[in-house]
Amino acid sequence: MGKTSITEEDYLKSIHELTEYEGYATLSDISRLLGTLRQSAYDEINILLQKNLVTRIERGKYVLTEIGQKQANLFLRKHRIAEILLYKGLSLEWKKLDEQAMGIEHGMTEEIMERVCEKYGCERCPHGNPVPRGDGTVMEIDDFSMSQASPGKTYMISRIVYEESFILNFLSDNRIFPGTSIKCISLNKWSLDRGEVEFPPQVNPAVRLINV
Ligand SMILES: [Fe+2]
Repeated sequence: MGKTSITEEDYLKSIHELTEYEGYATLSDISRLLGTLRQSAYDEINILLQKNLVTRIERGKYVLTEIGQKQANLFLRKHRIAEILLYKGLSLEWKKLDEQAMGIEHGMTEEIMERVCEKYGCERCPHGNPVPRGDGTVMEIDDFSMSQASPGKTYMISRIVYEESFILNFLSDNRIFPGTSIKCISLNKWSLDRGEVEFPPQVNPAVRLINV
């Protein structure tokens, strides 16, 4: 990942994404996602538990508390606006945005964010996720997981909730983005304009759909 120091904000973002993806975050998933040692993730989780930003739902499974979620949202606001800037302003590749945004998101000031929003609009990031408001609240999106689709029905891709590189590469290589329409053949086989695509099992829980 090329990051030298991982901040509390990075941990909150990872726990948020993993919870969207599989319902909770584990230490091994957090350390894999952040490219850090399990021991470091363990130490940080204990700090987050003490600060009441994270809670344990079961042995080894963590989620954000209400305060933790609000704090994560404030950081996701910077992250998603940074992605918009890199995508619309600098035409960086869609699949690289999440990773590249990590280099600049911590330095996004209110002034820069305001300017980006004026120029490009900032309702959603290029992966379809809503940009939280300045007060830490976020627009609710009425979509559902790909694993809840019915065979034979056509849907539209709403967003990718887990912006992990294998998943983003797979989707981008198959030209599947927010707004793409896609028909369910079975839960691991989907049909696009260009033909049928086999989906690896880890992709479905990361993708949200809307009815068309
Ligand atoms: Fe994004």
